[in-house]
Amino acid sequence: MNVDLVVAGAGFFGLTVAERCASELGLRVLVLDRRGHIGGNAYSETDPETGVEVHRYGAHLFHTSNERVWEYANRFTAFTGYRHHVYSTFKGRVYPLPINLGTICAYFGRAFTPDEARALIAAQAAEVADPSNLEEKAISLIGRPLYEAFIRGYTAKQWRTDPRDLPAEIITRLPVRYTFDNRYFDDVHEGLPVDGYTAWLERMADHPRIEVRLGTDFLDLRGDTAGNVPVVYTGPLDRYFDYAEGDLGWRTLDFETEVLPTGDFQGTPVMNYADEDVPYTRIHEFRHFHPERRERHHPGKTVIMREYPRAAARGDEPYYPVNTAADRARLLAYRELARREDGVLFGGRLGTYRYLDMHMAIAAALSMVDNRLRPHFAEGARLN
Ligand code: FDA
Repeated sequence: MNVDLVVAGAGFFGLTVAERCASELGLRVLVLDRRGHIGGNAYSETDPETGVEVHRYGAHLFHTSNERVWEYANRFTAFTGYRHHVYSTFKGRVYPLPINLGTICAYFGRAFTPDEARALIAAQAAEVADPSNLEEKAISLIGRPLYEAFIRGYTAKQWRTDPRDLPAEIITRLPVRYTFDNRYFDDVHEGLPVDGYTAWLERMADHPRIEVRLGTDFLDLRGDTAGNVPVVYTGPLDRYFDYAEGDLGWRTLDFETEVLPTGDFQGTPVMNYADEDVPYTRIHEFRHFHPERRERHHPGKTVIMREYPRAAARGDEPYYPVNTAADRARLLAYRELARREDGVLFGGRLGTYRYLDMHMAIAAALSMVDNRLRPHFAEGARLN
């Protein structure tokens, strides 16, 4: 295939770029992905034993207040009316998250009005005036009791580090809602793709001018494209430059999936585990994301996934940027290299070393098409 553009990475960023360039700019686009499937981390598949859709790289909940992204997403999929709620188990009791009036009443064992709860938390938070680590910062925001119940153990497991040894800057805010509203996201639009993420992503790639080649690492082929065809690269930034400025720090997750002989394991999609001596941080039970598919799910079996965070080494899946001061300095050096890389644009979660929700990845890709690719292909402007 003679191509006008190569896109490295078939996640939401790469597929949005490919779809827009093929449909709107009339370009022939070759999309490469190292993995054997499209969709990047949003990929999902049906578990054959239970008939339940499993998000292979962790639970993915779609939510946005960006009207352009919502309209764009709806061209490829309809959405269910799913609204996300999370609960946390601590010392054998269950509490609603994010911390809200319901959590406070349940934790302190009595009814509070919003004003009473606000006064209580303000008095407890006054214990620390000048925080010097994550623990002190969290106490200065929500007081010691709620910190010790809902933040300390969870954070220690997330970072595999005592929160007293973590920098205060990791958290800037810990929102407390003084209402009983425990809806997790406050975006205007929320829902799950009616027939799954993979069907949505496949429809984006389904265009006569798009060819998708799976199991193909762009870096093995870049000698063939160098200088000839413009490239949008959505893989890890440091790997593209052969780690010349050092490794950018990431955290990863190990997932343990299990099919259990019950029709309902936990009664909710996501249960957090705040106790430090429980080794995992969360359990996902995917059947609860789609109650409307009840008829298709096995009535006596369910699939769950336990999540274990740890630091990523090279070769692990990079999930969340660590973003230390050293990482930020390396990122600046890589950005300078990227700026000078003729004919290549860097985008997406891995290519920009930023955590992006799906709606942010789509929005950033639409902007790249508007601001870089259309001016280049339609008006002959320089690519970068
Ligand atoms: P993404 O990582 O999806 O895709 C990049 C692709 O590039 C991958 O398929 C990779 O194989 C490929 N690639 C890399 N190097 C390559 C190379 N050299 N050659 C060829 N291919 C290469 N968002 C949200 O809105 N709601 C949610 O609930 C969640 N939940 C969530 C949980 C977890 C655990 C994570 C890590 C992330 C989320 N997200 C999320 C974020 C969501 O996954 C994210 O927005 C998208 O992955 C971003 O899409 P990208 O295309 O940028 O990256």
